[in-house]
Amino acid sequence: MRIFEKIADVRAALASRGTARVGLVPTMGNLHDGHLTLVKTCRDACELTVVSVFVNPLQFGPNEDFEAYPRTLQDDAALLEHDADILFAPSEREMYPNGREGHTLVSVPRLANILCGAHRPGHFDGVGTVVLKLFNIVGPSRVFFGEKDYQQLTLIRTVCAQLDLPIEITGVPTVRAPDGLALSSRNRYLNAEERTRAPAIYRTLSGISAALARGDRSFTALEQTGAAHLREVGFDVDYVSVRDARTLEPARSGTGEFVVLAAARLGRTRLIDNVRVQV
Ligand code: PAJ
Repeated sequence: MRIFEKIADVRAALASRGTARVGLVPTMGNLHDGHLTLVKTCRDACELTVVSVFVNPLQFGPNEDFEAYPRTLQDDAALLEHDADILFAPSEREMYPNGREGHTLVSVPRLANILCGAHRPGHFDGVGTVVLKLFNIVGPSRVFFGEKDYQQLTLIRTVCAQLDLPIEITGVPTVRAPDGLALSSRNRYLNAEERTRAPAIYRTLSGISAALARGDRSFTALEQTGAAHLREVGFDVDYVSVRDARTLEPARSGTGEFVVLAAARLGRTRLIDNVRVQV
């Protein structure tokens, strides 16, 4: 595996590989088995696997965890050694040489302001922007994103479709701990006691999913009961929501595929998760 910090260097290395089908896995590092599953899926599908590690300041709000976000590049490189061909780990200066102020933004109005976007203003503009930059730097024919960040995956599908990017997007199912908690770099913020409560989020979503599969269509009641349950466990709930899995519009009785999403905080840790339901 070769490691590059400069855009020009990673471009030169990729150009020298000619027409190889390049796959890209964008990450913010602190890699866990969720990330590594994306990398293995990419490796199995592509001739050349590029992983990026960049903690993108543009997608963090002023009171969020940009400074605290775990940066573990050496460990990440060791984990990637056998599965990735190229690790691209640019500095903030390399990605935003003129700073964040006045930067061009990739914004998907309808998707960026709902669900997590309503609680994290500007977050999805930051994600859309950095992801398009990474696509332009690497020039992948395929990219791999986790279903764990379902709204992000939907946003990237929309950007690629609407901006005519010739890129195939693969969503990879969420990798979970044995007790159901979705793996996340932010789980390391949980103390031992919070960690025992955290799986309630997946249990709650699974309960709503089972009700939908049984034919229950009382969406608001399901959402409210789910949120109340999470509050009882000690969560500060941002939302529990049943949506159309394709558009993320609020669910209707005719919706063919649902996704149930939640975001909630335990102490200082904000957790998100979702479960899809085919009916
Ligand atoms: P990050 O949180 O590091 O996640 C990188 C990729 O790993 C995302 O596609 C995410 O959905 C996926 N992922 C994380 N946890 C997962 C799990 N438990 N199972 C399956 N996939 C999982 O998402 C980002 O970084 C950033 O927003 C990024 C897209 C890199 C833009 O900065």
